[in-house]
Amino acid sequence: MTARLIMKLRVAAAIATTPDVLHLSLVHPLRPELPAWQPGAHVDLRLPDGRVRQYSLCGDPADRTRYEIAIKREEAGRGGSTWVHANLEEGSLAHVSAPRNNFPLVAEARRSILVGGGIGVTPLVAMARQLVADERDFALHLCARSAVHAPLLAELRQVCGARLETWFSDEGRRFDPRRLGVAEPGTHVYACGPERLVDAVRDSLAAARWPDGQIHIERFQATVDENFKAEPFDAHIASTGTVLHVPADRSLLDVLREHGFSMASSCELGVCGACECGYRDGTVLHRDSVLPLSKRQDRMTPCVSRARVSVTLDL
Ligand code: FES
Repeated sequence: MTARLIMKLRVAAAIATTPDVLHLSLVHPLRPELPAWQPGAHVDLRLPDGRVRQYSLCGDPADRTRYEIAIKREEAGRGGSTWVHANLEEGSLAHVSAPRNNFPLVAEARRSILVGGGIGVTPLVAMARQLVADERDFALHLCARSAVHAPLLAELRQVCGARLETWFSDEGRRFDPRRLGVAEPGTHVYACGPERLVDAVRDSLAAARWPDGQIHIERFQATVDENFKAEPFDAHIASTGTVLHVPADRSLLDVLREHGFSMASSCELGVCGACECGYRDGTVLHRDSVLPLSKRQDRMTPCVSRARVSVTLDL
């Protein structure tokens, strides 16, 4: 996978959409248009110390003049959001990658049900804009602590109208995924938000026997399996026959780089998909939160995923 274009963009507007969410509009200082993107896409924001964070685009995909992202300040996070809140304001410059999409809308869906929790609603805002523009059937469920803490609520009300249903816990309203019922042909569910919400949606739909292909989940945190014990394995390089040994305490991504493979990466947590590569033989232990089941037969994320005994990589 090739590295993505990195652009130095100017913050054209920085507006607090809730007490702890900053809504940024980013434009190119010289060019009138930015690379095109589709709803569900995210960009990487590169911090001055080299750290990289992913943020979903929440603007209008038809508007090529700007990228819009919304960032929640997470005091207990890894420091990216607090840096953004402290340092980015109108006129600031930020290093931003071209968009990448791991969470696309299904073009042939007859109906789309969008479920967003808190800041997880950001990719769904772009989806809703597209669905309105395409005159397609959809509903959006927004879950948050309160209206005050619901990111981009004014935009959502304007875009969705009566198709927006809000679930604010301070009003005693909590979204129950069982209300989604059984799968209708052509109906697709998209969920993004805190682990508890997306797990509840996934489990409820699985219990109601929804086909996997009609469930689309995006996580913005790595899933943690405390019982996982990393074991060493061998990686065979298909093009050369070389065998690389991956010790238990190192990632496949590290070992590939050490042997001269120029592998792209971003989150290195299994949530962005930037390091994705193909494989053929072997039992892969998928530990990412980004690849859908339909891709796991022949694609893996070497930043976190491993193999049992050996794997042959399409490199
Ligand atoms: S670098 Fe993000 S999934 Fe591997």
